[in-house]
Amino acid sequence: MIEIKGVSKSFKNETALDYKDLTFEAGKSYMLLGASGCGKSTLLNMIAGILSPDRGRIIIDGKDMSAAPQKEKDRFRIEKIGFIFQDFKLINEMTVADNIGILRLEGIDTSGMDSLLTRLGIAEKKNKKVKTLSGGQKQRAAIVRALVKQPDIILADEPTGNLNYSIGEQVIKELTQAAKGKTLIAVTHDERLRPYFDCVIDMNDITGSPYDVAQGKAVE
Ligand SMILES: Nc1ncnc2c1ncn2[C@@H]1O[C@H](COP(=O)(O)OP(=O)(O)O)[C@@H](O)[C@H]1O
Ligand SMILES: [Mg+2]
Repeated sequence: MIEIKGVSKSFKNETALDYKDLTFEAGKSYMLLGASGCGKSTLLNMIAGILSPDRGRIIIDGKDMSAAPQKEKDRFRIEKIGFIFQDFKLINEMTVADNIGILRLEGIDTSGMDSLLTRLGIAEKKNKKVKTLSGGQKQRAAIVRALVKQPDIILADEPTGNLNYSIGEQVIKELTQAAKGKTLIAVTHDERLRPYFDCVIDMNDITGSPYDVAQGKAVE
């Protein structure tokens, strides 16, 4: 379970982003909707321990991770969080297998790679350089890289932003399937993808009163 409590974050020359209190339950999938600039990526980065809130707490499984030393946050992210990005963040000149195998340098067991590649339908791309893959195949490779460590939490920041709708829909279908039983938080602008998630959170109005995920709206 991930609890966002009284979190506020500001950047230089920016008004503060004040987040409503939110709880992400373990094992559920969440779609985060909201206009550009409303603070979606910042929230994912704070959950991942890449950014720290200025105020408030981010509590993961009962532990206030926002108060943990950076080293502990980094270890937690490496071991427990799978992060998927819009622009894949794969190394184009390396093969798919090497992009994933490189995680062993961080002590990650990558022995689940082959079965995940098969599950995502890109087993035959294993020894191909990433630059030869289509956008959908690159995103599938990035999903395998995020899932191979068997993370408890999967964060996806506009994972279909660089894909056309039908490919993106297929990727979301596969991602939500592969992430079953884990906590998945995915940012996407596309309302058509709603049916694939357990809960949809509209982040457009992130200031003010607490947000009731079950009701899908702010509560007074
Ligand atoms: N590293 C940064 N430095 C300065 N401002 C930032 C930084 N990251 C985000 N912001 C600002 O914080 C706000 C929220 O950004 P972001 O979380 O990226 O929004 P979203 O992902 O919803 O589009 C924006 O106004 C953005 O300009
Ligand atoms: Mg963003």
